[in-house]
Amino acid sequence: MIIAVDGPAASGKGTLASGLARHYGLPHLDTGLLYRAVGRAVSAREDQPGFEDAAIAAARALDASHLADVAELTSARSGVLASKVAVIGPVRAALFDYQRNFATQPGGAVLDGRDIGTNICPDADVKLFIQADSKARMERRARQLESRGVEVDRYALYHQIEERDARDMANPNGGFYKADDAHLLDTTLLDIEAALRAAIAIVETTM
Ligand code: C5P
Repeated sequence: MIIAVDGPAASGKGTLASGLARHYGLPHLDTGLLYRAVGRAVSAREDQPGFEDAAIAAARALDASHLADVAELTSARSGVLASKVAVIGPVRAALFDYQRNFATQPGGAVLDGRDIGTNICPDADVKLFIQADSKARMERRARQLESRGVEVDRYALYHQIEERDARDMANPNGGFYKADDAHLLDTTLLDIEAALRAAIAIVETTM
């Protein structure tokens, strides 16, 4: 069984995907971490000449060991860097096989990201598209960061999320839209448990 979970920044898709993976005993890949790892690898060259080529080389050299430092990768700064490398076509192409191989391992998998249902796993058994309004997303991300002891400027964080949404939505190499056969789940008013129950109900009625 392949479950594809897509949605914008801080929509709750990662938490839902890991909850679904636990529930069904499947491995889970947060594909945002791949873009974040590439972004981190080239952070010193941000907005400089050579940024694209360096990002392509970093994407081609990426392996699981680059995904280990999750705290560093999930910082707001890494998210912005990720969205800058994610617009580069050859970066996306270089990360395709890693994601596809993960998805097609025996027994199945849960993948979350932006283009899982549209590009990586157009053949997924169940596709979910998670949305939530920007204020709710900002507040969730703020609490997540605060729980790790990070001091949060909510105003700046809100703008960072909006900036990332805008870049993601305009990504010409993206595919960041709801697949026709994806189920829409709005989590604005749902807590984690309620959102997971709703996602499981969708999986159960689809399979
Ligand atoms: O999901 P997350 O917020 O960690 O993703 C970070 C960034 O990586 C996104 O804003 C997007 O630009 C990029 N991304 C992508 N395709 C994916 C997952 C993430 O382009 N499948």
